[in-house]
Amino acid sequence: MDTLRIRPRRLRASAGIRAMVRETVLDPADFIYPLFIVPGQNVKEEISVMPGTYHLSPDQAVIAAKEAYDLGIPAVLVFGLPEYKDEQGSSAWDSNSPVQQAVSLIKQALPELVVITDVCLCQYTSHGHCGMVENGKVDNDSSLDLLSCTAVSHAFAGADMVAPSDMMDGRVAAIRSALDERGFSHVGIMSYAAKYASAFYGPFRDAVDSAPQFGDRRTYQMDPANAREALREVALDIAEGADIIMVKPALAYLDIIRQVKDNFSLPVACYNVSGEYAMVKAAAANGWIDEKRTVLELLTSMKRAGADMIITYHALDAARWLRECNKA
Ligand code: PBG
Repeated sequence: MDTLRIRPRRLRASAGIRAMVRETVLDPADFIYPLFIVPGQNVKEEISVMPGTYHLSPDQAVIAAKEAYDLGIPAVLVFGLPEYKDEQGSSAWDSNSPVQQAVSLIKQALPELVVITDVCLCQYTSHGHCGMVENGKVDNDSSLDLLSCTAVSHAFAGADMVAPSDMMDGRVAAIRSALDERGFSHVGIMSYAAKYASAFYGPFRDAVDSAPQFGDRRTYQMDPANAREALREVALDIAEGADIIMVKPALAYLDIIRQVKDNFSLPVACYNVSGEYAMVKAAAANGWIDEKRTVLELLTSMKRAGADMIITYHALDAARWLRECNKA
């Protein structure tokens, strides 16, 4: 019998060799850190369904953004809870709303930090849908102007990039034209291109009070069963002018991230969403899993699947852990 000549274990024999052959290396520069902005001053309240994340007033958001920046995280993604809601979601493009205030304060304090804003209507509409509701249905085309207005108001506040998450058809093109017309051709679009109708958004909807008041989001967000449709959505958003394309959620959609990466040349972002975060936090709080190892393994899997950047509530912790690893 031949002796075993091929022994994969040789390349696992020590930390040094493992480091040499490691294919995927996480870096704080891979992360985008989400911020939840509420009205007021000096507010920092933990979000119960997402322990370790906070509702922040614009002044406090600057402090959180600086923490991220100092850890080597290049970007934040800004979400808002408005002071008022109406049928159209007009607080979404109100220049005095918490998001617009926070964006301008963060850009003043940290001009190098990339500030991305979530463009959607669901936090701002009384019915909680991501677009205009007409005759009990979410109307696509009348939503486009409202989304464009919102994107332009974020650009006026100083956003470097806008991230439409509504899943209306044609919104990337509409937002691109609106930005260009107002002199914001330099403002980029990170489109939530393949966004699925997912149960994993539950904690987020609690956190920002954006659950739909009737029906669900399945007439605009994608069916979790579909992969080819994701490629079609991505192709459309690229044709409409997207600069970065996103797959969301991440964990149950690693195959989609990989297919998008293999089929298109634009940078790919993925969103490690609230439900994914909450699962890890709950299990770790019960002592059922090791939080640090679990988080780093999950984030590595997203990067290995093809994500060039990961939007994650774990960003600050993960960046700290990566720094410790590098020192050790
Ligand atoms: C708004 C929006 C949602 C998320 C990001 N933007 C919720 C939804 O579409 O229902 C989810 C983020 C998360 O779960 O972390 N449309």
